[in-house]
Amino acid sequence: MSKQILVTGGTGYIGSHTVVELQKSGFEVVIADNLSNSKAEVVDSIKEITGIEPQFEKTDLSIKDQSDALFNKYKKIEAVIHFAAYKAVGESVERPLEYYNNNINSLINILSNMREHNITNMVFSSSCTVYGQPDKLPVTEKTPRKEAESPYGNTKAICEDIMRDFCKANTNIKCIALRYFNPIGAHESALIGELPVGVPNNLVPFITQTAAGIRKELSIFGDDYNTPDGTAIRDYINVTDLSRAHVVSIDRLIKNRNKNNYEYFNVGTGNGLSVMELVKTFIKVTGVKLPYKIVERREGDIEKIWADTSYANKELGWEATKTTEETLLSAWKWEKKIRSL
Ligand code: WQD
Repeated sequence: MSKQILVTGGTGYIGSHTVVELQKSGFEVVIADNLSNSKAEVVDSIKEITGIEPQFEKTDLSIKDQSDALFNKYKKIEAVIHFAAYKAVGESVERPLEYYNNNINSLINILSNMREHNITNMVFSSSCTVYGQPDKLPVTEKTPRKEAESPYGNTKAICEDIMRDFCKANTNIKCIALRYFNPIGAHESALIGELPVGVPNNLVPFITQTAAGIRKELSIFGDDYNTPDGTAIRDYINVTDLSRAHVVSIDRLIKNRNKNNYEYFNVGTGNGLSVMELVKTFIKVTGVKLPYKIVERREGDIEKIWADTSYANKELGWEATKTTEETLLSAWKWEKKIRSL
C-alpha cells in the first residue's frame, strides 16, 4: 500500500511542484490549502502532469478546529510536509500579527495533531533568511542564525525553534527543516508555476512579467554592493530540484535514516549569482528584450548569500541538477503560457 503524505500549502508554488514529485515517486498525496494565495485549479494541472488526482481539502490550518477535522478525516497519513504559510517579506512588516498568527499557529496545530494521531514524520519549509547576512560564505548548517530582518523571517526562526523543542520533548517524532535559498522557475510542462498576486516582489517573476510587457521595466536594487559587478548575490535553485529535496527528506524519515530527530539542511545550488548575471542570462537564453534600470538598494536586502550544500548532498543523497539557463527558460515558458503569448 502506498504511503499517504499530507502536503499543506500543496496548491502553492513550491507545494504543487512537490506534490508532482511525490506522486512520481509513488506516494499518495492529500493536499490541504486555504487557497489564500493559490487556486484550486492547480489540482487539475497536477493531474494533467502525473495522471493522478491528489485529494484536496480546503482547510485553514491556523484554525484548530479545521486542523483537528482534517486529521480526524485522513487516517493513513504517514508524514506531513508543511508549506502553508504567508511569505511576503514586505507585507509581514505591515501586518506582523497576521504573519505570526498564521505561520506559527498552523505549525503548532499540526504538531499537536501529529502527536495525537501518532504521525511521526514532518518536513518543514524554512528559509536561508534565518542566516541574515552571514559573516562567512558560503553558509553551512553550522553558520549561526542571526536576528531576523522581518516578521516573516522571524516566523521561520520561531518555527524552527518550536520543532527543535517539540522533538526534544517527543523523541518519537522526527522533523526536518529545509532552508531554501531562492526558488525560481516552473515545471518543465509549463502546467504549474509561480502565480504572484499583484506586483511581484521577487526577482524572476518581475523579470518574466517585464519581458511579457506587463511591467515597463525592471528595477535593479543597487549596484554599489561589495560584489564583482556591484549587484547583490543569491543562490537561485530550480523549484523542481527543490521539490525533490522534500521527497528524499520524507524517504529519510520514513526509513529512519535520520541522525537526530530534528535536522536541518541547506537547499541551494552552491553557486552565487548576481542580479546582473541573472538578468543577462535571461536575455541571452530567451532572446527577449528586457528593459532595466539601476535604482537605490531595497531596504532589508542583504548583500550576498549562497549555500554550502555539501552536508545536504551527502546526507540526503540529493543535489541540484538543473542549470540556470534551463530554469530561466522554464520560468519564461510558464509566463508565456499564462499570458497566452
Ligand atoms: C533577489 C535579488 C533583490 C526584485 C526573498 C525572501 C526569502 C525567500 C525568497 C520566500 C535581491 C533583487 C528583486 C526586483 C531586484 N523566501 N531584486 N529587482 O529578497 O533574496 O529573498 O524571497 O518566500 O526569505 O527574503 O529574493 O527575489 O526578492 O530578490 O533587483 O524587482 O533580486 O534586491 O538582490 P530575496 P528576491
